[in-house]
Amino acid sequence: MSEMILLRHRDIPDLDHLDVYRQNGGFEAFKKVVTSMKPEQVINEVKVSGLRGRGGAGFPTGVKWSFLPNNLWPHYVVANGDESEPGTFKDREILEHNPFQFLEGLMIACYAVQANVGYTYLRGEFWQIGHFLEQKIAELEAAGLLGDGLFGTSYALRLFVHLGAGAYICGEETALLESIEGKMGQPRIRPPFPAVAGLYNRPTVINNVETLTNIPSILANGSDWFHKMGTEKSPGVKVFSLSGRINRPGNYELPLGTPFRTLIYEHGGGIPDGHAIKAILPAGASSSVIKATDTALDTPMDYESVAAIGSMLGSASVIVVDDTVNMEWLLHKTVHFFRHESCGKCTPCREGTYWMDHILDRMLADGSSDQDVDLLVTVAKQIRNKCLCPLGEFSITAVLSSVDKFAEDFRGAQ
Ligand SMILES: Cc1cc2nc3c(=O)[nH]c(=O)nc-3n(C[C@H](O)[C@H](O)[C@H](O)COP(=O)(O)O)c2cc1C
Ligand code: SF4
Repeated sequence: MSEMILLRHRDIPDLDHLDVYRQNGGFEAFKKVVTSMKPEQVINEVKVSGLRGRGGAGFPTGVKWSFLPNNLWPHYVVANGDESEPGTFKDREILEHNPFQFLEGLMIACYAVQANVGYTYLRGEFWQIGHFLEQKIAELEAAGLLGDGLFGTSYALRLFVHLGAGAYICGEETALLESIEGKMGQPRIRPPFPAVAGLYNRPTVINNVETLTNIPSILANGSDWFHKMGTEKSPGVKVFSLSGRINRPGNYELPLGTPFRTLIYEHGGGIPDGHAIKAILPAGASSSVIKATDTALDTPMDYESVAAIGSMLGSASVIVVDDTVNMEWLLHKTVHFFRHESCGKCTPCREGTYWMDHILDRMLADGSSDQDVDLLVTVAKQIRNKCLCPLGEFSITAVLSSVDKFAEDFRGAQ
C-alpha cells in the first residue's frame, strides 16, 4: 500500500506507464468529476480542502479557481513547470516519474474552470521532459482520456506543452504568459490579473506542478482526508527540496508543519564532517536567511510559522549552510544570480542588482570595509518596494538578512 501522495512512484514501480497508473486508481477522479460533478462542486471541494499553491505564495487554490468570470470565454489553465528557483527540484521529479498524476490534476483543474485547452510551461532546460510529456499526452488521446466528448459527455479537452528558453523570470506567472504568447518574457503590470485577462487576454488559472499533482487524491479521497495531514492553515503534504551542506540531499515528502530539525537531521542525515549548522535558506535564493538557533530548528515548516520567524516557506527549497560557509561568499552567489536573471524592465532591479553584484565582487576580491557594507545595504534598500515584480525584492532579502544576522562575516572578512 502506497504511503506517498505526490512521490507515489517511489512506492509503485512503473507508475509512469499508463496501464500501471490506471491499475492504481489513475483517472478515476477525472472520470468522476467529468461524469458526476458540476464545475462549481469541484472548485468547492478544492476550496474546502484548504490546498494552498506550492509555487511560492501559498495562495488558496480553490479560491483562485473561483475568480474566473463566467461571462468571458474561453478560459485557460496553465501549469507552471518553470522551476528555476535555486535549490528547487521537486517538480522535476514529479514530471519525470509521476507524470500522469500531474496531468490528471491539470485535467481536473481544466474541467473545474471549464477550460478546453490546458498548457504546461517548462523551463527550456527541461526539453527532454517536454518530449516525455508530449508522449504521455498522446497516450491519453489514444486512450480516449483527452479529446472530444469525454466519457460520453460534451466536454472536450486538449493539452499542450510549451518550452521556455531558460529565464528565471518566466516562472513569474505574467512573464510566463508573455512567453507562451511568443513575446519577451517580462512581467505584466497588474491589474488586470490573469484570472480576468491572462493568456491571450482571457481568464486564466496558473498553478504550480506540485499544486496540481495534489488534486486527483483530493477529489478521490475528499477534503476531510486532506485536512488530516499538515496543520490547520497549511493542510496536506509538501515536497521539500533539501540541498546545501547536508549529508543526504534530495526531495522529501512530509506533512506541512514538520520541524526544520526533523528534515535536516532525521531525513537529511545532518551536516557533513561533524560541522555545525549556521543558517537556513527555506525558500532558495529568494528567502531571508534564518539563523539556525534551537528555536529556528524547532520551527514547523508551514506558511505561517516560517513567516513568523521572519522568512517564508516559498516553494520549500531548503538550503542548509554550515559553519564552513562565509555569508559574504554566499551573497555573492545569490546576487550574481539575480543580476543575471533581472529582466531589465524596471530600473531599481536592473541597476540595483548590477551594483550589488559589482560591490560584492570588490568585497570578495579586496576584503570588505565598513563603507562597502554600508553601500551594499544602501543599494539594497533603494530596490525595496520599488519594483514591478517580486524578483527585485527577492534579490535583497538574503542581502539585508545576512548583513543583519551575520555581521561578523562582513567588514574585513575574506
Ligand atoms: C521571479 C519569480 C519566479 C517564480 N518562479 C516560479 C516557478 O518556477 N514555478 C512556480 O510554480 N511558480 C513560480 N513563481 C510563482 C508564480 O508567479 C505563481 O504565483 C505560481 O505559479 C502560482 O501557482 P500556485 O498558486 O499553484 O503556487 C515565481 C514568481 C516569481 C515572482
Ligand atoms: S523587478 Fe526585475 S525582474 Fe521584475 S520586472 Fe522589474 S526588472 Fe524585471
